[in-house]
Amino acid sequence: MATPQLLVGKVCGITGGLTGIGRAIALDYLRHGAKVAVNHLGGPSDESLVEAFHKDAQAVISELNNSNSTEAKQFITVAGDISKPETGADFVAKIVDAFGRLDVFVSNAGVCQIEPSLLSQTVNINLCGAFYATQAAGRQMALHQTPAGGSIIGISSISALVGGGQQCHYCPTKAGVLSLMQSTAVALGKYNIRCNALLPGTIRTQLNDADMADEKKRTYMEGRIPLGRLGQPKDLAGPAVFLASEELSGYVNGNAVDVSGAGSISKVSSFGPKLPLEIGKPKTLTSVEVLEPESSQIQ
Ligand SMILES: NC(=O)c1ccc[n+]([C@@H]2O[C@H](COP(=O)([O-])OP(=O)(O)OC[C@H]3O[C@@H](n4cnc5c(N)ncnc54)[C@H](O)[C@@H]3O)[C@@H](O)[C@H]2O)c1
Repeated sequence: MATPQLLVGKVCGITGGLTGIGRAIALDYLRHGAKVAVNHLGGPSDESLVEAFHKDAQAVISELNNSNSTEAKQFITVAGDISKPETGADFVAKIVDAFGRLDVFVSNAGVCQIEPSLLSQTVNINLCGAFYATQAAGRQMALHQTPAGGSIIGISSISALVGGGQQCHYCPTKAGVLSLMQSTAVALGKYNIRCNALLPGTIRTQLNDADMADEKKRTYMEGRIPLGRLGQPKDLAGPAVFLASEELSGYVNGNAVDVSGAGSISKVSSFGPKLPLEIGKPKTLTSVEVLEPESSQIQ
């Protein structure tokens, strides 16, 4: 049975939405009847991604309308580096130009480089970028539309809650996004704006593709997840629809939704002796070692 459309007429903006989790959310929002604006970094390497997104978005709309007609614009793509303070405001202004208001905003753009020299870039994109974009979305939703209100969703990570030995540059930014959603929930509740965080576990995207191409690491990670598989970008789409929908989550505010298949709370491998530390070198594991996989994978 087809899922009923839950976001008909809603206007939704998503940062970093041409790939991975953001793209899956953008396409699902379209499926649910929303008008969608996608921010992307820009530059020549984005051209083919923009083209592919337009094609897939149009296919979703055609399927919904059961035709190829494009009577009214349903989606736009807007280039801009989200780490710059002005980009969030520019993105929101273009959304309002195109669709008249903003109901749902997903702060998703993020990176996970591991070179120490890129620490400030990681913080600027993941945390400062989320702040600027959330501030711009909050201002629009609170002050410039009638009725005021909306839903803001920050894509954080289960890394916000646990340490990552090889992600000391990254985990604090994701903890920051969670804290940003909690603080904005408190600040913006009076305008009927709900702010929540989604905490993905290990989701197969370009962010961890190289890492997860290593079979030992992948098998180890899969073994730590009670559902027995890594996540797919579309695993985040349903929870993002839930948080976007006033009907479904109207009293959910300042919350963190774990989307990790219980990987975040599972301490040991569920599927036999697959831990890297066990491979070729039997030894007793300490809890610290169990929690410190020999992996730089992103969560
Ligand atoms: N994949 C995972 O396992 C995982 C786990 C937890 C959290 N996350 C978070 O999910 C979000 C999406 O990541 P993903 O896994 O889909 O990877 P992804 O690389 O496919 O998506 C990130 C997107 O952000 C864009 N981006 C990067 N810098 C930008 C900038 N300065 N301005 C605008 N856009 C920019 C990228 O171009 C890309 O499209 C990130 O915030 C990431 O931290 C991912």
